[in-house]
Amino acid sequence: MYIYAHRGFSGKYPENTMIAFQQAYDLGVDGIELDVQMTKDGELVVIHDERIERTTDGIGYVKDFSYRQLCRFDAGSWFHPRFAGERIPALTDVLDWLANQKRSIVLSIELKNGIIQYDGMEEKLLTLLDSYRLWNHHVIISSFSIQSLYKMRQLAKDINLALLVEGTEQNVLDVARSLNVKEVHVDWTFFISAEGEKVRQEVDTCVYTINEVSLLNKLIGSGVKAIMTDFPDRMIRR
Ligand code: G3P
Ligand code: CA
Repeated sequence: MYIYAHRGFSGKYPENTMIAFQQAYDLGVDGIELDVQMTKDGELVVIHDERIERTTDGIGYVKDFSYRQLCRFDAGSWFHPRFAGERIPALTDVLDWLANQKRSIVLSIELKNGIIQYDGMEEKLLTLLDSYRLWNHHVIISSFSIQSLYKMRQLAKDINLALLVEGTEQNVLDVARSLNVKEVHVDWTFFISAEGEKVRQEVDTCVYTINEVSLLNKLIGSGVKAIMTDFPDRMIRR
């Protein structure tokens, strides 16, 4: 079973920051998951929430700041003062970093294009990935937004997509088939449901967010391809 670091090594480092990605990589994870929002001036930035106050010292919506303005905020101190100075990474920072890592890993990029609609986000991402030539081998694009995934599929028929699923959703297989997804990423509730059982017979499944070894043990032998965890140190076989 593959181990993906959810928002980087977010159990011990500030989520979605370069230090969290580096630490996850150094630990030997198979993949890294991150979340993408878009700034006022169209930069793709790595942050989970639509607003910045939970994970920075600023206040407001990502969409209302230019990238330069966002760079001023501290994205580390909220987690622990020793991480003061961490910034909200641009997605290009992560891609630059990844391009320089020798060991190949999966990068699971979640498009947070749902609660707030970011016009042109999918096109931006594709243009960017194309310029890095990473997407065919290392990158998977995920979203809860079916609309966003359809758009990605229209724009790039070969790109790897993952449908995000939670709770008691139904008809997941139909959507997954029509999107031709590579994987579904599901929460525990969905995983243990009858629908979840049906889906994983047909589509590679990754379960998020597994932070306890006891849960990981329950997944062994289930055919699950990967788990996402905030604590890859607990999950990785050393
Ligand atoms: O990709 C699965 C997981 O990251 C989705 O939930 O809220 O952590 O982005 P969330
Ligand atoms: Ca996510």
